[in-house]
Amino acid sequence: MGSRVLHLNAFENFSPGNISSGLWRHPQDRSSEYKTLRYWTRLARDLEDAGFDGVFLADILGILDVYRGGPDEALRTASQVPINDPITLISAMAAVTESLGFAVTLSTSYTHPFLLARTLTSLDHLTEGRVGWNIVTSFLDSAARNLGAGEQLQHDDRYDRADEYLEVAHKLWELSWDDDAVRVDRERGVYVDPARVRPLAHDGRYFQVPDPFIAEPSPQRTPLLFQAGSSARGQRFAAQHAEGVFVHGTRPEVIAPIVAQTREAAARLGRSRDSLKVLAVATIVTGETDEIARAKYEDLLRYIDYGGAMVQFAGPAGFDVSALDPDIPLADIDSNGAQFSARFFASADPDRVWTLREVAHYMGVGGMGPTIVGSGATVADELERWAEVADLDGFNLAYAVRPGTFDDIIRHVVPELRARGMLRTGRAPGTFREALFGADSTRLAPDHPHWSISL
Ligand SMILES: Cc1cc2nc3c(=O)[nH]c(=O)nc-3n(C[C@H](O)[C@H](O)[C@H](O)COP(=O)(O)O)c2cc1C
Repeated sequence: MGSRVLHLNAFENFSPGNISSGLWRHPQDRSSEYKTLRYWTRLARDLEDAGFDGVFLADILGILDVYRGGPDEALRTASQVPINDPITLISAMAAVTESLGFAVTLSTSYTHPFLLARTLTSLDHLTEGRVGWNIVTSFLDSAARNLGAGEQLQHDDRYDRADEYLEVAHKLWELSWDDDAVRVDRERGVYVDPARVRPLAHDGRYFQVPDPFIAEPSPQRTPLLFQAGSSARGQRFAAQHAEGVFVHGTRPEVIAPIVAQTREAAARLGRSRDSLKVLAVATIVTGETDEIARAKYEDLLRYIDYGGAMVQFAGPAGFDVSALDPDIPLADIDSNGAQFSARFFASADPDRVWTLREVAHYMGVGGMGPTIVGSGATVADELERWAEVADLDGFNLAYAVRPGTFDDIIRHVVPELRARGMLRTGRAPGTFREALFGADSTRLAPDHPHWSISL
């Protein structure tokens, strides 16, 4: 019997390529069907039946164009491009499910909070409270250039702006309309009682929103808030605003201090340590036996595209490694980004000399997170170990091939987790927030940071 019940999300995006590189070429991969509703509705049903809490929809707003100084290699290898708008998938997936949640990525850098708040409120109504927001500040110069922002704000300034963004969103979602503002009183001819709707009167450094919100409160009011900051500033932001935190790391021992620090930072702000549900990214390759799973993994490795892996490596790190010998040790590269990456990969195995080729091999299946290979029992052991060592609440499970990775997890790992009491047997209950925090927690927790409107 496992000691904790895990929360599982599927890590998806509206693109033929996610964090593994080149695997769309695998004969069993059907990623090119990403443009069909059929793919998404089938996935949504399967995940719900298997007891997943939700689908996490990643998103970026520009091409990963650092490697080779342009978009060509990202385009050739389908490295998170082409990519459509994931928000458009949610109504369709909600229509074929009853309790699956949808955590969609939206950036605080390019959309006004008033518009973003209305979009998420609309979906929270239509899904009856099953929407989550993965709050990102964005990191691509290519997005800033094409969205009229010129240059990006500096990293920490983006978070400062995001702090105010969350304040505005909170006022829109939580404070502008009272619970009983909507009367639908036919006799008195009152649809909305104006006395129960108030203006924001928000006049901040980045945003001015003088008037009331335009949409009525939805079941959760505030969508379930996710975030994935890994820097000190990002962790501080998560501690203040997030309810779900995505982390990634090569080993649970590496993640453990980050999880502990974030929970402690939340506690310092008066929140309970458990007010944060922490999910780690992992990719699972599984089959009937360890040998079969290992053979599947060896087969996947043959399809890794070195250029694609380097596109994904260079984009977030912000430095172009295309002129470098693939066999040069990372530690010898003179750049801040490379030194950060050298430390990241050394944490996976300090005794190994990490070269760019080794990095491509590691990242090609499963990106920066771990790839767990084995039978259902072996994988369940490993998930349990990760959860115990790093104090995790669950996992954000990426795919290697679509939809085969999720099919395999559902066939081999889900029954094993259930047998150990590590996964709920039925569907997730009610709203997305209830799936993570239990019944009667549809609304923000009382210890979640609150703002007030001053008129
Ligand atoms: C699991 C996971 C998913 C992420 N998804 C996205 C995404 O969809 N879009 C995005 O722009 N950034 C995404 N990020 C990046 C984070 O938002 C953040 O920029 C990154 O973790 C670096 O954190 P920092 O800015 O605090 O250093 C993701 C990070 C993780 C760990």
